[in-house]
Amino acid sequence: MLAIIGGSGLTQLSNMEIERREVVRTPFGEPSGALVFGRMCNEPVVFLARHGYGHTIPPHLVNYRANIWALKDARVSGIVSVASVGGIRAELAPGTLMVPDQIIDYTWGRKSTFFEGGDTPVRHIDFTHPYDQALRQRLLAAISAAGEHAVDGGVYASTQGPRLETAAEINRLDRDGADIVGMTGMPEAALARELDLPYAAIGVVVNYAAGRWSSEAGIHFPDIEIVLQESMLRVRNVLECLCRV
Ligand code: HPA
Repeated sequence: MLAIIGGSGLTQLSNMEIERREVVRTPFGEPSGALVFGRMCNEPVVFLARHGYGHTIPPHLVNYRANIWALKDARVSGIVSVASVGGIRAELAPGTLMVPDQIIDYTWGRKSTFFEGGDTPVRHIDFTHPYDQALRQRLLAAISAAGEHAVDGGVYASTQGPRLETAAEINRLDRDGADIVGMTGMPEAALARELDLPYAAIGVVVNYAAGRWSSEAGIHFPDIEIVLQESMLRVRNVLECLCRV
């Protein structure tokens, strides 16, 4: 059973047949909301809205540990994350889909490991390749099956938020080699790895990053909203195909 974590613009899956909702608790507190169990194309899936079902939890306050723990507890086989992002390069225009293969973490102060405190021995994970290669390939196959195109590979920069970046910060991320920028990629990916859960992400570019092209003068939120709505319809189709590939 695959898990889908939906981000901004994807707080429910309209093409999912819902079977039950489960409110769970974990040793790390409560997840962002109930786990929604059901089927897509007859395959079992579980869905979780990262920011809560009313979109009330900002990126830095998401209980990433509880979310990942709850999904592990539900015995999912892997996690597909859907995340809206800003595009740093010209070819990553709003509406572009990307399946990143690398991450740079600029977040701070988030609980980013299960292995701390008490009697828990420290564990260092290998994170050379932060995304699961097999799940990435499956995601890319689903994107093709849905008649969509995605950029295969790229560097996701995870910033702290909830504010958007300055133009100088985006220039820095660009110099660092980042292609897209979002606020929730970390510590989510690392926590999934700590629990040996395959994890891949689909980045949905909803705006040019601060200071770039159409965002040169500033980021226009009503435009983001339009792209978000239109793109998430496409992502829903991709997710439906995921159960077939
Ligand atoms: N920056 C950070 N996170 C984002 C952006 C952005 O420009 N767009 C959507 N999520």
